[in-house]
Parts: sequence; C-alpha cells; structure tokens
Amino acid sequence: MPIIYHETTKTFHLQNAHLSYVMQVLKNGQLGQLYFGKRVHDRVDFSYLVETSPRAMAVCPFEDDMSFSMDHLKQEFPVYGNGDMRHPALDVLQPNGSRYSQFVYVGHRIEKGKPSMHPLPHVYVENEDEMTTLTIELEDTVMQARLELVYSLDEQRPAIMRSARLTNEGEKPLQIDRMMSFALDLPDANYTMLELTGAWSRERHLKERSLQHGIQAIGSLRGHSSHNFNPFIALKRPKTTEYLGEAYGFSLIYSGNFLAQIEVDTYDTSRVMMGIHPQNFSWELASQETFQTPEAVFVYADQGLNALSQTFHDLYRHRLARGYWRDRPRPLLVNNWEGTYFDFNEARILEMAKTAKELGLELFVLDDGWFGHRNDDTTSLGDWYPNLQKLPEGITGLANKVTELGLGFGLWFEPEMISIDSDLYRAHPEWMLSTPHRHPSHGRHQYILDFSNPEVVKAIGDMMVKILSEAPISYVKWDMNRAMSEVYSLTTPSHEQGKVMHRYILGVYDLYDRLTTAFPKILFESCASGGARFDPGMLYYAPQAWTSDDTDAVERLKIQYGTSLVYPISSMGSHVSAVPNHQLSRITSLPFRANVAYFGTFGYELDVTKLSDEEKTIIKEQIQWMKDHRALIQFGTFYRLSSPFESNVTCWMVVSEDKREALVGWYRVLNKVNAAYERIRLAGLDEDMLYHVSGLELDLYGDELMHIGLLTSDHTSGERKATDPTQNGDFVSRIYHLKACG
Ligand code: GLA
Repeated sequence: MPIIYHETTKTFHLQNAHLSYVMQVLKNGQLGQLYFGKRVHDRVDFSYLVETSPRAMAVCPFEDDMSFSMDHLKQEFPVYGNGDMRHPALDVLQPNGSRYSQFVYVGHRIEKGKPSMHPLPHVYVENEDEMTTLTIELEDTVMQARLELVYSLDEQRPAIMRSARLTNEGEKPLQIDRMMSFALDLPDANYTMLELTGAWSRERHLKERSLQHGIQAIGSLRGHSSHNFNPFIALKRPKTTEYLGEAYGFSLIYSGNFLAQIEVDTYDTSRVMMGIHPQNFSWELASQETFQTPEAVFVYADQGLNALSQTFHDLYRHRLARGYWRDRPRPLLVNNWEGTYFDFNEARILEMAKTAKELGLELFVLDDGWFGHRNDDTTSLGDWYPNLQKLPEGITGLANKVTELGLGFGLWFEPEMISIDSDLYRAHPEWMLSTPHRHPSHGRHQYILDFSNPEVVKAIGDMMVKILSEAPISYVKWDMNRAMSEVYSLTTPSHEQGKVMHRYILGVYDLYDRLTTAFPKILFESCASGGARFDPGMLYYAPQAWTSDDTDAVERLKIQYGTSLVYPISSMGSHVSAVPNHQLSRITSLPFRANVAYFGTFGYELDVTKLSDEEKTIIKEQIQWMKDHRALIQFGTFYRLSSPFESNVTCWMVVSEDKREALVGWYRVLNKVNAAYERIRLAGLDEDMLYHVSGLELDLYGDELMHIGLLTSDHTSGERKATDPTQNGDFVSRIYHLKACG
C-alpha cells in the first residue's frame, strides 16, 4: 500500500520507490508536516520529528504545555490567528466578522486512482493502479466548514499532486479571501530558489536566489500566468547541479493569477505555498457549496535538476496533455505571421502554401488578420467571420484549396478579446470587462471579453464551432494578447465581483473543453503574446504552446533552456524566421536557426516565396532531417548539458528510450580566438554501448562520451575553417547524431 495510515499515532506516510511524505495529526487536531524527501522506511511512530523544545514568547494553546505552539510547528494547511504568526494557506471571513479558524482532523479516505477535477485541468490516470489518492477531512465546528486536503501519489514517478476543498456546512455564507492549493513547511532554509522570470520576448529565464528570512514570492496579477513569472518554483540544495543533489519542484496547474511564496521564519523553517493569488480574489461560499482549488504538482529529485525536469516532462506529456496529438509527432508547419503580418490575400497565401508544400512542410497556419475588416490591430476582434475582401471564398474556400495542395490548414483565433470597432461590441457592450464610471485601459488597442459570463463564452464558441465545422481545419492557434485591467463583470452582482478573475479562467477552460471535445483531432497550440500562458493548465487542453514571440535563435537558447526546466520539448512551439530577425535585427545562419528550432515542434515563420533557390535547398534538407528525427526529439529523454545563462556555449541532448540513439545540440554564441580545447560530458547513454558519432566521425563508448566528454572544439583548419559556418564565426552550432554501432 503506497499510502500508509497508522491509527495508533494518526500518522500518514505516502511512500513510493523514490520519496516519502509524512504527516501526523497534532495534539490539537491540526495536521502537522513531518517529512518530505527521499524514501525512508516506514515506522508506526514518527513523532520524534515533532518539535518539542519550548520557545520563549511562543503563543501556546495548552496551559500545561509550553512546547506546543503553532508558531513553530510544521503544518500542512496553516491558518492565522491561533498562534501561527506566519502567512496562512486559508483566510475565511465568517458571518460574525471573525477570521480565526481551526480545522481539526475528523477522518480520511484512501482510494485507488485519482478522481477527475473537472472543470479544472488536472493530472489524470489511465488506470487505477497508477496513483493512489488520500483525502484528509478536517472540520471547524465553529465556522461550520469542512476542509478536505487531497493528495495523489504517483506509483512510479517521484510526484505528488495536491489540492484543497472547502465546504460551507453552515446556513450563512462564508467569504474565502485566500485559499492556497497547498502549504508545505520544510525544516530548514538551506535552499536556492529557482524561478522562471522574464518579460515579453524574453520569457522563462532561469533565475536563482538563496532563501532569506522573510518572504520571497513570485506571482501574476495580470489575469494570465504571464511572461513575467511562471507558475513554478523549485528549491534545490546550494550544491545541487543538473546531475547531482536534491531538488523539489512545485508547479501549479492554473492559467490565471497565481502566488508562489516561500516564507522563511527566524527559526529557519521554510513555508512553501502556491495557489490563486489572493489579490482580487474573494469567494462567497453559500451554504452547502464547495470551493475547489487548482491542483499543484510536487516533484522530488535526488539526482539533480535534469532528473527533476525529466519527471515533469514525463508526467506532463503523458498524464496532463491529452488527446489525439499527445503521443504523435507534431506536424511541421509554416505560419504566415512574420511573413506577411496583416498584408495578405488569398492569392498570396496560396502561393506561400504551394511553396511550403514543395519544401516538404505539412501544415499551413493562417495567423491574425483574416476576419472582420482587420487590416491592423485596432479592429474586429470578436467578429469571427472571414474578411471576404481578402479571402473571397472565405476560410472554407481557402482551407479547401490549401488542403487540396496536400497540406493541413490551421487558423489563428483570439477568442477572449473584443475591439471597440467590432460588430460584437456594437451589439453587446456589456460583454466587455470594464468598471462602471472608470475609463477602461486598452492593451494593443484591444479589450477583454467577460469570460466569467457563460453567455459570452457560448456566443464566441458558437462562432468558432461554425468555422471549424465548415472548413477542413486541423490546427488552431488560440492567442491572448493583453494583460487584464479594470476587471469587473457588468452582468455579475457587486458582491460576486471577487469571483470574476477565477470564473474567467474557468470560462476559458470551458471553451477549450467544448472545442477539444467537438474537434478531437484538431491540434491546439496555446499562445498569449508569445509565452504569457505557457503553463500546465493550458497543456491539459493544448499539447503545445507558442514559446515566445522572440524568434531570434540566440535569444531562443535561453528561452527554450529555461522552459525545459518544467515543460516537455514536444510542448515548445519553435520556428525558423527570417533575418535580420524581426525582434532584434540579428543575423544568424539558416543552419543555426534550424538547429535551435529543431528542439521543439519545428516550423517556419517567414515568407517562403521570398527564399532563394539556395535557401530552399537547405530548407528542404532541414525539413527532411526533422521528419527523420522528430519522434526522438519530441519524445526522447531531454538533458541540459551547458547553460546559456552561465556560458557562451549552450548544449543539450535527447536520448531514445532504448538509449541506442541520441542527438546533441551544441551552440556557441560568440567566437573565441585561439580558444582552449573543449569537451562536453554527455548524459543518459549506455556506458557499455559503442556509438557512432556523426559530426566527429568516431566510434566511442557511452562511458567515454559521458565521463571523458564529447570533443566540441573546432576540428578543422585552413581554408575549410574559414568558410564553414559550422566551425567558425559567431553564432555557430552543430548537431551530433549518436547511433549504436551494430
Ligand atoms: C501574438 C502572437 C503572434 C501573432 C500575433 C498576431 O503576438 O504571439 O505569434 O499571432 O499575436 O497578432
């Protein structure tokens, strides 16, 4: 039994081959946290881990026990007001004005499998033996509320899923002002916190800081999970590397405002918590209603950050992403956005599609500008019907023609948005989020639809369903191009405005659910001005996401490297674009651009009709190469080898499941004169297997490649060195292909 309960000591032990997680009901009935880390033996009584030394000045609930204080006890779901002076996981305003609460253990259930959390995205099981779920019931009889803490333990992976539910069992409404998905108290603070931080076009840069007393927090108040911070944090021991040492990852399956916080008290206890951000959140819970938090995922690794990421990749690829495309290599596409922006018509698109087909591509994606009278970004969002001036036979006519060329057809939507200049706004101004008597701020000239209102979600969904049913569409890019402001729902009563931001996200999930159910074979790619919604919530519906609007290959090294900390390679939209690059004006070679974009879903985002014959020849080879290797890249085991945040050289690799094949991507940003001899130690190979290394043209054993390393210094000299872009100059890259001999 992977979840053990010892009745005599009221101890829970979640244990699999990798980890142990131990909790105990404390003497006052609250739930205490005793241990989370590498697997340890079970024992009936772990209470030696409960701190018993009395602390001066602590607030104590028992007259005769100066050692028992919530101020220093490690807990599972702390509340404020009964002696714990740290920030709580839960804050409920009760009818009598009190916010004090005390939830005590009343019972628990242990079940095989993992229940659905619909309508919230969640990790799922395909058969009951994959996970076991523990639900611990706690009650506050004064508040008349039941709190359920839910833990699902993965049988195979070092992963635990957590969430919480609160039910109002009284007659009068309660007001939840803060409810985290989890809290976890760790017994020391000797950790480095990792986060994925950035801004538009430089998303998910890896940042580190050592924990300090007080609060360190990241979050989003932008309405989407954001470019700026990702709903993920990790704690690693200061000396943990990619290969060695302990790390804990915490990831929230949610696409809206979030808070990820670590509070270190002055006794060096680290309280980790994550959940919906309490700002602009206030949930009135009527009698007998239940509030369910989003789910959070804990991953533990004792062998470094690569192992941590590999667990996330495996779990998210197989048990969060779903549907037809989950396990299928992704179509190689061309997207017209950077090629044409708004300036296109049917003839131009067909010419691009014809060339794309000749190059060997599989899918043509028509981006923004095909609907209403949208010729720039000031108009028509909400009017999801084709612009017949640009596309005289509509989307159906165009999609049919593209399909007849032998390509799939994909289409861009931005369902949650509205332009003031739109038929939709003229008909339904009340469908726009805006605060009465206050000026609404725009973002990129656009405003936000009230997706907390099911009527709005239905109307937009109806327009999309019509287009998707009438035309042969095999891919949808769902965009979301601004952060939220002046959030207020004109169709929601004033006392429920605190629900709007969360309900909005539920509306987004609801429309995704409707569309993915009605069109199970359509591949959805999520997007939010590039990577503002690259989060686990989106992955549940859309197995891939546009990683960033920055298509510059050098910048992409950092973005894709950082993203790989949590998200699988198969989820990263990555395209080769034109040079000079549109975001940075940087010029890099076509091979360099492709060598970076291969480690993702791969496609082109440029006007293929403008390519020279020489470029077309190279691109044809690149496309064929990716067709031959995409299954390995997208579904192999990924290792980070050298970090762009620490070095001039970025290196990563993927290894096939049977370890007989691997690809190493090596990228040097700036050239160095008379440089040192360089080697990179590979990972994940079979020590005893002999591999042929193309690129080096040598046969080497796995142990040599992993312990001595792959020689990456220039192998050429003289005339070839001067002209070979794979050897000389800035922005140089190579792909090494390793194949088992014999
Ligand atoms: C966003 C996306 C781009 C493109 C444009 C279209 O910025 O990230 O890829 O679709 O919108 O307006």
